[in-house]
Amino acid sequence: MMIGIDNEVRRFKEGNHLEKAFTEKYGHAAEFIAVAPGRVNLIGEHIDYHGYSVLPMALSQSIRIAVSSNDSSQLHISNTSGDKYKDYSGSISDLDIKKGSAPSWHQYVLCGIKGVSENVKNSEDLLGMNFLVEGQVPPNAGLSSSSALVCCSALATTQANKLSFTPSELASICASSERHIGTEGGGMDQAISFLAEEGKAKLIDFDPLKSSNVVLPQQVVFVVAHSGVEMNKAATADFNTRVAEGRLGVQILAVINNLEWKSMKKAKELQKALKRSTKEMLALVAETFHEEPYSLSEISDLLEISAEDLHSQHLSASVQHLRSFELRKRLRHVFTEAARVEAFRDTCEGGGDLSGVQSLGDLMHDSHVSCRDDYECSCPELDELVDLMMKNGAYGARLTGAGWGGCAVAMVAKGSEDVFLRCLKKGFYEKDEEGRKRMDDALFVTAPGAGAHVVFPRDDLDNVELPPPNNFY
Ligand code: GLA
Repeated sequence: MMIGIDNEVRRFKEGNHLEKAFTEKYGHAAEFIAVAPGRVNLIGEHIDYHGYSVLPMALSQSIRIAVSSNDSSQLHISNTSGDKYKDYSGSISDLDIKKGSAPSWHQYVLCGIKGVSENVKNSEDLLGMNFLVEGQVPPNAGLSSSSALVCCSALATTQANKLSFTPSELASICASSERHIGTEGGGMDQAISFLAEEGKAKLIDFDPLKSSNVVLPQQVVFVVAHSGVEMNKAATADFNTRVAEGRLGVQILAVINNLEWKSMKKAKELQKALKRSTKEMLALVAETFHEEPYSLSEISDLLEISAEDLHSQHLSASVQHLRSFELRKRLRHVFTEAARVEAFRDTCEGGGDLSGVQSLGDLMHDSHVSCRDDYECSCPELDELVDLMMKNGAYGARLTGAGWGGCAVAMVAKGSEDVFLRCLKKGFYEKDEEGRKRMDDALFVTAPGAGAHVVFPRDDLDNVELPPPNNFY
């Protein structure tokens, strides 16, 4: 990938710093540094696992791993924040990843390695490796720090073993391998981490995976702000519950329309099979489902199977405790959100006059309302933050990522960002001591960053004057 010379130099310099820490830790130099960015999703929430396109951009904040290989088949995984993230050592042939509860950080690293090992002919030939991980992506913030860790680890493994995969192949491998953790995510986070390009937002299509550039209007910038509520989607059943509700709704619609339903998992597959427009799908949802939640027995009757079979064969372990399911609201979100992504892309293609910019803002805010009311994946703090962003002049604002906490993103006029940040500080963060302490890391202006890549540290750049590594405020 071509990148500007300043950035090239900066990356070498940053690598150099991590390389020094690596040498201190392992007593020899790192061979290279793998880099994989986090992301902010501009629009298209909770629809990637239904096969619909999404529109994220990579952050300039990344996960970096300094790497050397060893001939003892051992993995040594360490973190520059070692007080928070404990060291791990184990054999590369025994990648033990546990599903359920809050996984420890090194399990995400193992997912990346496992993904590669499942996709090579002779996995027993994989080299042992020494990793030193450095994270710049705020954790539990909806900015995809865990997927960036999986992607970075997979990239490190391919580079250490001189394996050759395309970025799209690695994105798909990582999307599947992260599911070893137990969360049934789609492929957005891994796709943008590998396919991003500096300065460009991306429309990501699935089945097959494809990305295309989206030119954002010149006159806006994006501000990311943390609600203060930490969200780890692997630690609760919320995420998988939404996946299950959407899937059951899709399967019921398939049965009613005489389609083979057991293998039908995504709303887009259903829409294709029915050859209906998104508007027609919404009408179908409205005429089929009642607004109130469904019980297990109601769903098993509609699917024409026993409640026991529904429970044991069609619900994953993490959601087998559920007794009631929202179907109408969840599918309403999925189809309206899919339409909003298309409208956002079309509006960007139409150029960036003021009415276009306002339409983009409206789409973002409608997306938040749909996430809040129909998908029920927001929380009071995120709603407060989004309201405050709108009151302070954002064209649009919404939660970003899985939700239930984490960050909101706002689109604001270029040039107004300093005033906007001050208003958020005053109205949200400075209300209490806790907020004041964390606001410097919790609030930043962002622009589309580069995708995953490998850099080779060089000592001779020690004296080069360099810009700061990211744009935190
Ligand atoms: C998480 C998942 C993604 C996507 C988002 C919600 O980040 O990993 O695949 O589903 O939530 O849009």
